[in-house]
Amino acid sequence: MRRPLVAGNWKMNGSRADNSKLVEALVAGDPGADGAEVLLCPPFVYLWEVGRLIRESSLALSGQDLCAAASGAHTGEVSGAMLRDVGCRYVIVGHSERRSLYGEDDQAVARKYVAAQREGLVPILCVGESLAEREAGHTEAVVLRQLQAVLEVAGAASFAAAVLAYEPVWAIGTGKNATPDQAQQVHALLRARMAREDAIMAASLRILYGGSVKAANAHELFSMPDVDGGLVGGASLNVEEFLAICRAAG
Ligand code: PGA
Repeated sequence: MRRPLVAGNWKMNGSRADNSKLVEALVAGDPGADGAEVLLCPPFVYLWEVGRLIRESSLALSGQDLCAAASGAHTGEVSGAMLRDVGCRYVIVGHSERRSLYGEDDQAVARKYVAAQREGLVPILCVGESLAEREAGHTEAVVLRQLQAVLEVAGAASFAAAVLAYEPVWAIGTGKNATPDQAQQVHALLRARMAREDAIMAASLRILYGGSVKAANAHELFSMPDVDGGLVGGASLNVEEFLAICRAAG
Protein backbone atom coordinates (compact mmCIF):
# COMPACT_ATOMS: atom_id res chain seq x y z
CA MET A 1 0.00 0.00 0.00
CA ARG A 2 0.99 3.60 -0.47
CA ARG A 3 2.22 5.28 2.67
CA PRO A 4 0.54 8.69 3.01
CA LEU A 5 2.83 11.66 2.78
CA VAL A 6 2.35 15.23 3.97
CA ALA A 7 4.84 17.94 3.04
CA GLY A 8 4.80 21.33 4.71
CA ASN A 9 5.91 23.88 2.12
CA TRP A 10 6.88 26.97 4.09
CA LYS A 11 7.51 28.96 0.90
CA MET A 12 9.37 32.19 1.69
CA ASN A 13 8.33 32.36 5.33
CA GLY A 14 10.09 31.92 8.64
CA SER A 15 12.90 33.23 10.77
CA ARG A 16 15.34 31.36 12.96
CA ALA A 17 13.28 32.27 16.03
CA ASP A 18 9.90 31.38 14.50
CA ASN A 19 11.24 28.16 12.98
CA SER A 20 12.56 26.81 16.24
CA LYS A 21 9.26 27.48 17.99
CA LEU A 22 7.29 25.86 15.17
CA VAL A 23 9.55 22.83 14.78
CA GLU A 24 9.88 22.14 18.49
CA ALA A 25 6.09 22.13 18.82
CA LEU A 26 5.74 19.90 15.77
CA VAL A 27 8.31 17.42 17.02
CA ALA A 28 6.53 17.31 20.38
CA GLY A 29 3.24 16.65 18.59
CA ASP A 30 4.75 13.71 16.64
CA PRO A 31 2.91 14.29 13.35
CA GLY A 32 3.95 10.90 11.96
CA ALA A 33 2.42 8.98 14.86
CA ASP A 34 -0.60 7.89 12.82
CA GLY A 35 1.50 6.53 9.97
CA ALA A 36 2.03 9.40 7.55
CA GLU A 37 5.49 10.32 6.33
CA VAL A 38 5.92 14.00 7.13
CA LEU A 39 8.32 16.42 5.44
CA LEU A 40 9.27 19.99 6.18
CA CYS A 41 10.31 22.23 3.27
CA PRO A 42 11.89 25.38 4.72
CA PRO A 43 13.71 28.03 2.68
CA PHE A 44 17.28 27.03 1.73
CA VAL A 45 19.00 29.14 4.38
CA TYR A 46 17.13 27.37 7.18
CA LEU A 47 17.50 23.79 5.97
CA TRP A 48 20.55 22.97 8.02
CA GLU A 49 19.17 24.34 11.27
CA VAL A 50 15.73 22.78 10.79
CA GLY A 51 17.48 19.52 9.96
CA ARG A 52 19.21 19.67 13.34
CA LEU A 53 15.93 20.36 15.10
CA ILE A 54 14.21 17.31 13.58
CA ARG A 55 17.19 14.97 13.90
CA GLU A 56 15.67 12.83 16.65
CA SER A 57 12.17 12.86 15.16
CA SER A 58 10.38 11.01 12.37
CA LEU A 59 10.20 14.21 10.29
CA ALA A 60 12.25 14.48 7.12
CA LEU A 61 13.64 17.43 5.20
CA SER A 62 12.88 18.63 1.68
CA GLY A 63 14.08 21.47 -0.50
CA GLN A 64 11.56 23.74 -2.25
CA ASP A 65 13.54 23.87 -5.50
CA LEU A 66 16.99 23.08 -6.90
CA CYS A 67 19.26 24.06 -9.75
CA ALA A 68 19.38 21.71 -12.71
CA ALA A 69 23.15 22.13 -12.96
CA ALA A 70 25.47 20.12 -10.72
CA SER A 71 27.85 22.90 -9.64
CA GLY A 72 29.81 25.92 -10.78
CA ALA A 73 28.95 29.28 -12.28
CA HIS A 74 25.29 29.61 -11.25
CA THR A 75 25.24 32.57 -8.89
CA GLY A 76 22.38 32.41 -6.43
CA GLU A 77 21.47 28.79 -7.15
CA VAL A 78 21.53 25.68 -4.94
CA SER A 79 22.35 22.22 -6.29
CA GLY A 80 20.79 18.89 -5.49
CA ALA A 81 24.10 17.70 -4.03
CA MET A 82 24.02 20.63 -1.60
CA LEU A 83 20.49 19.73 -0.56
CA ARG A 84 21.61 16.15 0.10
CA ASP A 85 24.62 17.43 1.97
CA VAL A 86 22.44 19.32 4.47
CA GLY A 87 20.13 16.35 4.99
CA CYS A 88 17.34 16.64 2.41
CA ARG A 89 15.78 13.47 1.08
CA TYR A 90 13.16 15.16 -1.08
CA VAL A 91 12.85 18.29 -3.23
CA ILE A 92 9.82 20.02 -4.72
CA VAL A 93 10.14 20.45 -8.48
CA GLY A 94 7.95 22.58 -10.73
CA HIS A 95 5.85 24.28 -8.09
CA SER A 96 3.39 26.61 -9.84
CA GLU A 97 5.04 29.64 -8.23
CA ARG A 98 8.33 28.62 -9.83
CA ARG A 99 6.57 28.14 -13.15
CA SER A 100 4.57 31.37 -13.10
CA LEU A 101 6.83 33.80 -11.20
CA TYR A 102 10.25 32.52 -12.28
CA GLY A 103 9.57 31.39 -15.82
CA GLU A 104 10.18 27.66 -15.42
CA ASP A 105 8.68 25.91 -18.41
CA ASP A 106 7.97 22.19 -18.70
CA GLN A 107 11.46 21.49 -20.05
CA ALA A 108 13.20 23.38 -17.25
CA VAL A 109 11.10 21.46 -14.73
CA ALA A 110 12.05 18.17 -16.40
CA ARG A 111 15.75 19.07 -16.14
CA LYS A 112 15.34 19.78 -12.42
CA TYR A 113 13.54 16.47 -11.93
CA VAL A 114 16.43 14.64 -13.57
CA ALA A 115 18.97 16.60 -11.52
CA ALA A 116 17.16 15.74 -8.30
CA GLN A 117 17.26 12.02 -9.01
CA ARG A 118 20.87 12.22 -10.19
CA GLU A 119 21.74 13.49 -6.71
CA GLY A 120 19.68 10.84 -4.94
CA LEU A 121 16.79 13.12 -3.99
CA VAL A 122 13.16 12.15 -4.43
CA PRO A 123 11.49 14.81 -6.58
CA ILE A 124 7.97 15.92 -5.69
CA LEU A 125 6.81 16.89 -9.17
CA CYS A 126 4.00 19.48 -9.16
CA VAL A 127 1.45 19.78 -11.92
CA GLY A 128 -1.73 21.82 -12.07
CA GLU A 129 -3.91 24.06 -14.18
CA SER A 130 -4.74 27.75 -13.80
CA LEU A 131 -8.30 28.99 -13.35
CA ALA A 132 -8.49 30.10 -16.98
CA GLU A 133 -7.29 26.68 -18.12
CA ARG A 134 -9.89 24.92 -15.95
CA GLU A 135 -12.67 27.17 -17.14
CA ALA A 136 -11.68 26.53 -20.74
CA GLY A 137 -11.91 22.79 -20.10
CA HIS A 138 -8.17 22.24 -20.45
CA THR A 139 -7.37 20.77 -17.05
CA GLU A 140 -6.60 17.28 -18.30
CA ALA A 141 -4.56 18.46 -21.26
CA VAL A 142 -2.47 20.77 -19.07
CA VAL A 143 -1.57 18.27 -16.36
CA LEU A 144 -0.87 15.54 -18.91
CA ARG A 145 1.37 17.89 -20.90
CA GLN A 146 3.30 18.84 -17.76
CA LEU A 147 3.72 15.16 -16.89
CA GLN A 148 4.65 14.19 -20.43
CA ALA A 149 7.58 16.60 -20.49
CA VAL A 150 9.12 14.73 -17.57
CA LEU A 151 8.22 11.28 -18.89
CA GLU A 152 10.00 12.06 -22.14
CA VAL A 153 13.22 13.08 -20.45
CA ALA A 154 13.29 10.82 -17.42
CA GLY A 155 11.22 7.81 -18.44
CA ALA A 156 8.37 6.12 -16.62
CA ALA A 157 10.64 3.91 -14.51
CA SER A 158 12.01 7.02 -12.77
CA PHE A 159 8.62 7.49 -11.10
CA ALA A 160 9.34 4.52 -8.85
CA ALA A 161 11.51 7.06 -6.98
CA ALA A 162 9.33 10.14 -7.27
CA VAL A 163 6.16 11.68 -5.89
CA LEU A 164 3.55 13.54 -7.92
CA ALA A 165 1.57 16.49 -6.60
CA TYR A 166 -1.59 17.84 -8.18
CA GLU A 167 -1.83 21.50 -7.30
CA PRO A 168 -4.54 23.43 -9.11
CA VAL A 169 -3.14 26.96 -9.31
CA TRP A 170 -6.52 28.52 -8.50
CA ALA A 171 -6.57 26.67 -5.17
CA ILE A 172 -3.10 27.66 -3.97
CA GLY A 173 -3.14 30.20 -1.18
CA THR A 174 -6.69 31.22 -2.07
CA GLY A 175 -8.60 29.41 0.65
CA LYS A 176 -10.57 27.77 -2.16
CA ASN A 177 -9.61 24.10 -2.26
CA ALA A 178 -10.56 21.70 -5.01
CA THR A 179 -13.48 19.59 -3.91
CA PRO A 180 -12.56 16.00 -3.07
CA ASP A 181 -14.28 14.90 -6.29
CA GLN A 182 -12.38 17.42 -8.41
CA ALA A 183 -9.11 16.29 -6.86
CA GLN A 184 -9.94 12.61 -7.24
CA GLN A 185 -10.80 13.08 -10.90
CA VAL A 186 -7.38 14.52 -11.74
CA HIS A 187 -5.50 12.11 -9.46
CA ALA A 188 -7.22 9.17 -11.14
CA LEU A 189 -6.35 10.59 -14.55
CA LEU A 190 -2.70 10.94 -13.60
CA ARG A 191 -2.57 7.42 -12.20
CA ALA A 192 -4.27 5.98 -15.26
CA ARG A 193 -1.74 7.77 -17.48
CA MET A 194 1.10 6.27 -15.48
CA ALA A 195 -0.54 2.84 -15.54
CA ARG A 196 -0.32 2.90 -19.33
CA GLU A 197 3.45 3.00 -18.84
CA ASP A 198 3.76 0.61 -15.92
CA ALA A 199 0.84 -0.65 -13.87
CA ILE A 200 2.90 -1.72 -10.88
CA MET A 201 4.70 1.61 -10.64
CA ALA A 202 1.42 3.49 -11.05
CA ALA A 203 -0.21 1.54 -8.24
CA SER A 204 2.55 2.47 -5.84
CA LEU A 205 3.05 6.08 -6.99
CA ARG A 206 2.07 8.59 -4.35
CA ILE A 207 -0.01 11.49 -5.68
CA LEU A 208 -0.42 14.40 -3.26
CA TYR A 209 -3.06 17.08 -3.43
CA GLY A 210 -2.07 20.71 -2.77
CA GLY A 211 -4.08 23.90 -2.66
CA SER A 212 -5.65 25.31 0.50
CA VAL A 213 -5.43 22.06 2.46
CA LYS A 214 -6.39 22.72 6.06
CA ALA A 215 -7.48 20.76 9.10
CA ALA A 216 -11.12 21.29 8.16
CA ASN A 217 -10.89 19.71 4.69
CA ALA A 218 -7.90 17.34 4.99
CA HIS A 219 -9.82 14.24 6.02
CA GLU A 220 -12.31 14.52 3.15
CA LEU A 221 -9.58 15.10 0.58
CA PHE A 222 -7.31 12.35 1.88
CA SER A 223 -10.09 9.80 1.96
CA MET A 224 -10.37 9.88 -1.82
CA PRO A 225 -8.90 6.66 -3.27
CA ASP A 226 -6.17 8.29 -5.36
CA VAL A 227 -5.22 11.09 -2.96
CA ASP A 228 -2.19 9.92 -0.97
CA GLY A 229 -1.57 12.98 1.17
CA GLY A 230 -0.96 16.66 0.76
CA LEU A 231 1.44 19.42 -0.14
CA VAL A 232 0.49 22.03 2.41
CA GLY A 233 1.46 25.69 2.22
CA GLY A 234 -0.15 28.22 4.54
CA ALA A 235 -1.50 25.70 7.04
CA SER A 236 1.95 24.15 7.53
CA LEU A 237 3.01 27.28 9.43
CA ASN A 238 0.40 26.68 12.11
CA VAL A 239 1.24 23.89 14.56
CA GLU A 240 -2.28 22.79 15.39
CA GLU A 241 -3.45 22.92 11.78
CA PHE A 242 -0.46 21.01 10.48
CA LEU A 243 -0.61 18.35 13.18
CA ALA A 244 -4.30 17.81 12.46
CA ILE A 245 -3.62 17.53 8.72
CA CYS A 246 -0.87 14.97 9.31
CA ARG A 247 -3.17 12.95 11.55
CA ALA A 248 -5.89 13.06 8.91
CA ALA A 249 -3.45 11.59 6.39
CA GLY A 250 -2.19 8.79 8.66
P1 PGA B 1 -1.49 26.50 0.19
O1 PGA B 1 -0.21 26.21 -0.73
O2 PGA B 1 -1.71 25.30 1.05
O3 PGA B 1 -1.14 27.72 0.98
O4 PGA B 1 -2.66 26.71 -0.75
C1 PGA B 1 0.03 24.95 -1.28
C2 PGA B 1 1.31 24.94 -2.05
O5 PGA B 1 1.59 25.93 -2.75
O6 PGA B 1 2.09 23.98 -2.00
